[in-house]
Order: sequence, then structure tokens, then C-alpha cells
Amino acid sequence: MDIADIDAEGQGKLYFGRGSVTSVSGLEGQKDVYLLKACVTLERETMKVPSPGEFYLLKSAKSSVQLSRPISVYYAKVRKNIDGKTRSLLLEFLILKKGVGTEELCSAQTGERIELIGPLGNDFAHFLPGDILSASAPEEPSICIIGGGIGVAPVAFFASRLKEKSYDFYASFKSGSYGLEYISPANLFVTTDDGSAGIRGMLPKAFNADCVKKNKYKIIFACGPSAMLSYVKTVAEECDVPVFMSVENYMACGVGACLGCTISTKDGVKRVCKDGPVFDGRIIEFPAVQKKTFTPLVSDVDLSVEIAGIHFRNPIIAASGTFGFGQNYRELIDVNALGGICSKGCTLEPRDGNGGRRIVEVPGGNINSIGLQNPGIPSFIKEELPEMLKLSPVSIANLAGSTLESYVEGAKLLDDSPVPMIELNISCPNVKSGGQAWGIKAEAARECVRAVRSATKKPLMVKLSPNSTELLDVALACIEEGADALSLINTIQAVSIDIEKGRPAFDNVRAGLCGPCIKPIALRMVYDVAEAVNKLPKEKRVPVVGIGGIANYKDAVEFIMAGAIAVQVGTATFSNPRAMLEIIEGLKSFMRSHGYKNIEQMRGIAQG
Ligand code: SIN
Repeated sequence: MDIADIDAEGQGKLYFGRGSVTSVSGLEGQKDVYLLKACVTLERETMKVPSPGEFYLLKSAKSSVQLSRPISVYYAKVRKNIDGKTRSLLLEFLILKKGVGTEELCSAQTGERIELIGPLGNDFAHFLPGDILSASAPEEPSICIIGGGIGVAPVAFFASRLKEKSYDFYASFKSGSYGLEYISPANLFVTTDDGSAGIRGMLPKAFNADCVKKNKYKIIFACGPSAMLSYVKTVAEECDVPVFMSVENYMACGVGACLGCTISTKDGVKRVCKDGPVFDGRIIEFPAVQKKTFTPLVSDVDLSVEIAGIHFRNPIIAASGTFGFGQNYRELIDVNALGGICSKGCTLEPRDGNGGRRIVEVPGGNINSIGLQNPGIPSFIKEELPEMLKLSPVSIANLAGSTLESYVEGAKLLDDSPVPMIELNISCPNVKSGGQAWGIKAEAARECVRAVRSATKKPLMVKLSPNSTELLDVALACIEEGADALSLINTIQAVSIDIEKGRPAFDNVRAGLCGPCIKPIALRMVYDVAEAVNKLPKEKRVPVVGIGGIANYKDAVEFIMAGAIAVQVGTATFSNPRAMLEIIEGLKSFMRSHGYKNIEQMRGIAQG
């Protein structure tokens, strides 16, 4: 850290804390651009106020996202408070609503609290030589400023601090214009893709090598989308004019520690948050623009899939242990819209499940230890299955067990029942005997699948454990022994400690973690297993069903693109009982808009 960043008492000069939203308004004619005004109190005299080009990390104080979003300052003003000691910093940001974090900021109410860290990064003024500044006269401005879309915010702030008419300003938008109220350029050129303001067309219609030469610009500052910046750099190089541009990137810390926002430059790897965001354009290397492949709209899509010879009307299946026997959620949603329903894990004998605490909430999910509470397979077949079979989704009996014999006896009973499909559960982490003990080692899995396979001719899907260190061996052993499909993952073994008691929260100490927090791990495992399955000869390949933290259609699409033919949704139903129905609808519109006629066209496309 630079010594200039700390004051005499060793305190940092940046602000980290809460600010109050003074207003949020959508900009006229813009669908997704908002002006957020906020006020923070700077308690120490030494605290920095922002310079043009610098940014803050922002998030709503009640945010559901972990990382704050880097947002450039559009305008800032400092006011002395009446106590005479503190200052109020009035900040303005232009925000493009493009994801959860920005959506939360754009929908903040007046008086709501937001979290801010900043001001971060470097500023434009640092790159403006004094001789150019003083030479830039209204009749012949030598400073050229360019803003594209939301990138207009930091350059407009910069312009607002320059002498009136000492610069020309080029602003390029898709439609309409915004962010120009604080600037006083000698000449303002606006372009819009749709011709709704200024010149119809993109930036090159107004800004090009000819105009740089004609206007004799000595320096260019720009911020906007990479394609635009890349064009500006080419023009500047052709005209031999220095260009300084503010770039953006995903980041976590904003203070140069996480190294998540680096870009490669001619001078080596640079951090956008600390070395930038303003860089000398000569060192920036823009990656070649990847052209989007044309995807025709599809009017109707077929969501149906076939798993182990069974037809599913769509690939969304309620996961075992989260949907009872198909009846509990009937008062809330139309369960008949689902592709399938996996029953609660059933063992040969009825089980009361685990004592003590059964659920602990954690960020992004929960840890649970139910312990396979179930009525026993004979009762399931007599009482639950007939009702389950009256529903349209495919009924799948989740078969759990302790000893090999109990699995085999259970399988025989299910074989004699009308259930169309069995999911063999060798992955429950919450029972003292059996459960995942059969799914952690490939040889144990082999033995269990072989025994169950010999006891039933029903389509057999085996549910795998993420707690195995030999997952691929387990998967391949299951296939060799006759599994018709694989489903994965079951919950990830986890621990929670009750800090008041100084004891594990669960009687069994270890329990199963589920929810969105496990999704990336589940996706990796599905990807790996699908990859291994694809290496088998065609006749030996079996479908893979993805499970683990799937909460929306995008998650489902990821699993399908990773190689899953269908997905099971579990924990998401607890927080949103409509989650599976929304996933079906979301999947349908995604496929329509991206030109996928059926699941097979999308399945596994992300595999190398
Ligand atoms: C439980 O009942 O504790 C979980 C069931 C499972 O993991 O299969």
C-alpha cells in the first residue's frame, strides 16, 4: 500500500461503511439505466473524496449477493456538516441493471442503506499533462472525451471538472441519451443505434481518424464497451494521439488483493481495481471479438426426455427427500406439471430418523440430518405409491438400505410393485449403517448395484455420493453392474457447531449440506461423470441426471450443457414452492430464444 493511502494515525483514507440512498430514478427513455444518489458521512478529515475515474464497490445493505459491484462515480460533492468536524459526501452513480446486485441497487428506496467501499482505483486527471490542459482553448479544444453507454458516467464526471468548452465530447448510445447534464463541451456529438437522438449509427459515424486529424486532438479519454474502446484505440494509434481509457472487469476486493480483475497488457498483467481502471490505451490488448453465432428462434420446443427407457414429459424431477411422496405440495402448486417425482428414501423397515436437531441454515443452503425417516417399503407400496401413481409425473421410488440384504429385499418388493423406476440410494450421509457407506468405495458400490440389479428388472438409476474420493470409479462400477442411469449428487458431508453448547449441532456430528452453495461442486461432478460416460462405447453409455443446488432455469441449463439429460430440484422448493414450475417455463423460453428444439440438442454442448 502507498503511504499516501493512510493518515498520520495509520488509518486508511478510504470509506467503508453504509450510506443512505437519497433517491433512485429510472432515466427517461432507458429501460435499464438508473440514477442512484446517496449520501455518506466522512467522519475523518483525512478521508478521500472521489476524483473522476475512481469508483466505489456498492451493494444494497440487505443484499443477497456476496460481492459488491464496481460502479464509477458520475458526480460527487462535499458538504461540511454543522458539527464543523464531519463532512457529507453526496454521490451520484449511473447504474445499468444487469444482474441481481445492480437490480437490488436500482430498486432501492429513499432512505435505504447501501454499503460502499471507496473511492477506488486511479483517476483520469493523473494522465492529463498540464500543458495540454492549459493549451485547450474553446475555439480549438485539444481534449477529446468519449463515452459509450453506461461508460459515459466516469468520463462525464471528468469533463464536468474541466474548463468549460475546453474539450469535445462524443457520446454513443443504443437509444436516447443520458449522463450529459453536467458537461459543457465545445462540441457535443451524440450517436444512437436507432437514430432516436443525434446521428443514427455507432460511434464511427461521429468519431474517426479524419475527425481526430481535422480537430487536431492532442489527447483522448474514453470509457465504454470493449468493442468501442478497441475501435478508439485503433483510431488513436492511426493518428498517433495518446489515449487513456477506463476499463471494467469482474472483481472481488477492489483494493488489489484478490487478483481477480486482472487484464493482460503489453506491460504485463495489471489489476483493474488498483493499477486502473484508467490505463494508457497503448498497453491494453483487446481480445479478438467473438462473433455471436446466429440462433434462429424456435416456435415450439420439445422438453421431453427418455431416461432408462422411461418417457418424461420434461426434464424437471422433484428430488428425493424434498417432496415427500408427491402429495405435500399439491395445495401449493400443480405437481402434475413436473417431469418426475422421486419419493423420500425408503428402507425395508420403517425408520423414525435421527434425534436432535435436524436442520441448520447456512449461507446459501442448509445442512440436514433427517436420517431416512420413512414408513418402510411395504407401507410405501401399499399406502403412498397408489396415490403417487395417480399423478402425471413419473413416480420414482428411492430405495435406501443398511445391509446388502435389506437393499435386495427392498428391491424385490419394488420389483413386484407397479412403480416404473427405482433410484438406488447409496449416498445418504445421515445413517449410522449403510447409506453412503455403499457409495463411497467403487467395490462396495459394485457389490450393491450387482445385488440390487439381480433382484429387479425395473429401470435402475443409482444416486451417487459427492463424498467419495473415487467418484468416477464408483460411477463406472455402477454402469458395469447394470445401472440404467446415474443421478448425482446427494448432499455433501458437513458439520455445524452450536457455539453456545460447544457441541456439534447434530447428534451424528456430520450431516448433509445442500442448496445453491453446493451447485458449482455438483456441476463439476456432473461434468466429470458425463465426460467419463461419454468415453465409453456408445452402447454402454447411460444418462446422467444432475442434482445439487439447482434453483432456477439457468442452473438447469448449466447442468444440461454439462451433460445431464435431466435435473432434480430439491432445496429450492423449500424457499420457493414454484421453483420447479418456473424452471420448466424458463427452460422453455431459453430454448426458444436460443434455437434449441429439444434437450438433446443442448445436452453436453459444454463438454470439450
Ligand atoms: C436423510 O434422510 O437424512 C437424507 C436422505 C438422503 O440423503 O438420501
